[in-house]
Amino acid sequence: MKALRTTVFTFLLSSISIIHAQELTGNIVIHADAGKDTISKFIYSQFAEHLGRGIYGGIWVGEDSPIPNTRGIRNDVVDALKKINVAAIRWPGGCFADEYHWKDGIGPRNNRPSIVNTNWGGVTEDNSFGTHEFMDLCEQLGAEPVICGNIGSGTVQEMSEWVQYLTSEGDNPMSKLRRMNGREKPWKVRFWCVGNETWGCGGIMSPEHYANELGRYSHFLRNYDGNTLYKISSGGLPEDYNWTETIMKKWKGTDGWLQGYLSGYSLHFYTVNDWSKKGSATEFTEKDWFATLQKTLEMEKLIKNHSAIMDKYDTEKRIGLIVDEWGNWFDVEPGTNPGFLYQQNSLRDAMVAAVNLNIFNNHCSRVKMANIAQMVNVLQAMILTRDSKIVLTPTYYVFKMYAVHQDAVMLPVTIQCESYSNEANSIPSLNVSASKDKEGKIHISFANLHPAQPQNIKCELKGISGSKITGEIITAEEINAYNDFGKPEMVNIQKFNGAKLQNGILVLELPAKSIVTLEVK
Ligand code: AHR
Repeated sequence: MKALRTTVFTFLLSSISIIHAQELTGNIVIHADAGKDTISKFIYSQFAEHLGRGIYGGIWVGEDSPIPNTRGIRNDVVDALKKINVAAIRWPGGCFADEYHWKDGIGPRNNRPSIVNTNWGGVTEDNSFGTHEFMDLCEQLGAEPVICGNIGSGTVQEMSEWVQYLTSEGDNPMSKLRRMNGREKPWKVRFWCVGNETWGCGGIMSPEHYANELGRYSHFLRNYDGNTLYKISSGGLPEDYNWTETIMKKWKGTDGWLQGYLSGYSLHFYTVNDWSKKGSATEFTEKDWFATLQKTLEMEKLIKNHSAIMDKYDTEKRIGLIVDEWGNWFDVEPGTNPGFLYQQNSLRDAMVAAVNLNIFNNHCSRVKMANIAQMVNVLQAMILTRDSKIVLTPTYYVFKMYAVHQDAVMLPVTIQCESYSNEANSIPSLNVSASKDKEGKIHISFANLHPAQPQNIKCELKGISGSKITGEIITAEEINAYNDFGKPEMVNIQKFNGAKLQNGILVLELPAKSIVTLEVK
């Protein structure tokens, strides 16, 4: 047996995965008596950029559209998103954010200037979806806004005025302008990203340069009228630990002048094995399935490594690790604009979503928000739209199933499982997280990563006296099953009856390539 996760995770290496008919076995302990950290609902947040049909067509159709809408925003998309409790939405980018000038997107729509979306396909952006429309979307969904400010090509004045426009009651130029544009009361805006990927599309800065800019911009982002900003620093490339060290040192080192100006630190990590050959979202082999899961499991290593640096400076975990871009990035669907990043979504995406959400749940003492990229029609989306039709993706169903963990207390899990091997590589075949909600109900989410072998799981419930078990499952016949327009759904949530209590031990039969959430009460 090889210990992989010192506190909560170990797994057994074995060669059993070659014998496909055979069942794997796993032993789990749920430490319901040891829960102390809350899984922030903001781990279940979204990202919506002005990219391809992410906003236009996907969310915004305009008030005159034949597609049913409320003030221009699609009703079908809002209705579907309400069912997954979207906690927060990050907007307007991404790379787009650092070329976005917010004043282009306010006032009468026919007076708004058009610009070229240079990052994403060079298409015309007519700014018809701007600040008021985004805030309306958040209000319709009951989600909090996460505004990403322009540090790359904007100014300190522009960003500080945006904060004033959104959040100030008072007698000042920006709140007057907001009132002129029809919104009397300010909104509440908590989350504010001070630039995006400032190592790259956000301005090609060094960490030292960015740290200086972060201080300068943050200083002028004011808290108005009871609104308190939670300012989020841009991170570096996924494995740029020096960037994390630089920002954290400035936060609380010998020259800790960023203290008071920072609440969150961003990590972006996409599941891509080879950026020059990302592969199809739906046409893939078991080797690709394995490679994708192996890659996505790296999220845990990244969180641990960045957290270790943050822990050095921030023992009380005051700064949240904000994973504000994550997910699968495959080739665009054949025949679609390469700049629009439109991809289908299969059972493999569902598995990636489950694995990452389990990782975030298990690391909730440091991970305070995560925003999957992206909400509609872009990358690993919840929803795909085609004119008036919509498709709910396998990833959508994972978010729906996992919503029970939002704001619940995380329960540490110890796992012993067999490995899933492909050629010379092995990964753990099982991935789990658990929580206890405010009513005392326990939810345990299991992902069986093996595409062919079911698992016989024995689960010890320490400190749980429940006796009623219900369950839900997401699986499909094929690893590349997906939902498509005009066809019956191939992947969605079904009832799961394969779990029972035997002498206080939870015993379950976890089908191959499945995601199961059990409720114990
Ligand atoms: O999500 C697509 C792009 O990926 C974002 O605009 C950027 O931040 C990242 O590189």
